[in-house]
Amino acid sequence: MAGICIKPMVLCLVLVFVLGHAIAEFPKFHHRMKGGNNNNGTLNFLVIGDWGRRGEYNQSQVANQMGRVGEELDIEFVISTGDNFYDNGLSGEKDPEFVESFTNIYTATSLQKQWYSVLGNHDYRGKVAAQLSPYLHQVDSRWFCSRSFIVNTEIAEIFFVDTTPFVRDYFRAPNEHSYDWRGVTPLRRYISNVLTDLQLALKKSKAKWKIVVGHHAIKSVGHHGDTVELVNLLLPILREYNVDFYMNGHDHCLEHIRDKKSTIQFLTSGAGSKAWRGDVKPFNNEGVRFFYDGQGFMSLQLTEEEAKIAFYDVFGQVLHKWTSSSQLHSDM
Ligand SMILES: *[C@@H]1O[C@H](CO)[C@@H](O)[C@H](O)[C@H]1NC(C)=O
Ligand SMILES: *[C@@H]1O[C@H](CO)[C@@H](O)[C@H](O)[C@H]1NC(C)=O
Repeated sequence: MAGICIKPMVLCLVLVFVLGHAIAEFPKFHHRMKGGNNNNGTLNFLVIGDWGRRGEYNQSQVANQMGRVGEELDIEFVISTGDNFYDNGLSGEKDPEFVESFTNIYTATSLQKQWYSVLGNHDYRGKVAAQLSPYLHQVDSRWFCSRSFIVNTEIAEIFFVDTTPFVRDYFRAPNEHSYDWRGVTPLRRYISNVLTDLQLALKKSKAKWKIVVGHHAIKSVGHHGDTVELVNLLLPILREYNVDFYMNGHDHCLEHIRDKKSTIQFLTSGAGSKAWRGDVKPFNNEGVRFFYDGQGFMSLQLTEEEAKIAFYDVFGQVLHKWTSSSQLHSDM
């Protein structure tokens, strides 16, 4: 017992181990901000989703503009909201699509930063283990993809959630696609662990900005619309712990929607390549601040006091931007 009291770190590790994979599901990483940069201690990053198509469908044009904006903002990292490689994820660690759709496309100097990626449903159609493999980090050191994890950066805490296993449609037979569910079964326990871990982590978080990232939308007026499983299971948790932003891809568009019952803002950045689906659901008024059916990406600039958010099109033009205050949790 004495040993445990003297060494709280040991106790901590033992507890984590004893409590089992409830905690291990969400590994936490500290993103150390570069010292002495010229962005005055603000945390700047880009968000892109639904992109890997070997440069086609304007992927390369979007990548070029990300490079330009990334340079301007001196970004810290890039977040990928999933559907990293089309159509069927990666077939293995050595699948050339990794280099052809990622390394050879996001070539700008400003994009040679850490990428934090989640998996989308298309990624689950390939070998999931390939995208999670440390081998890809050797091929391109920017790459990091995991199921659910936390990135902590002084100003903001970013919670990445593996949303594909939540969507019941993918499990219905017959299904025109096959999915690699290894590692997420038994499903019921997997989902319940993800939710419990997220809840614990949000509860503990003291960050000024709490951001949750998943592939599927909670709210969307695009092709796929709302994801009911996330509305039912995830949204109540985000509301309870005052999450500021939920960021997703899946619908190939850009969107800014405000929650009617909380200060959460739903941000879709799923326009990294193929877009223009043209089947927008009728705006259900109040919540929707912005919708764009074409290609583009999003930037965030966070300080302790405010968040500046912008959406850009394929030409790098700002389509929509606004500032949220961390005190008021409202638009200014
Ligand atoms: C950096 O912060 C200082 C003090 O808050 C401010 O006066 C200055 O304009 C900022 N510079 C830039 C480049 O944002
Ligand atoms: C590329 O972007 C331009 C400008 O938005 C658009 O007109 C064009 O249809 C896009 N091409 C594809 C293949 O989506």
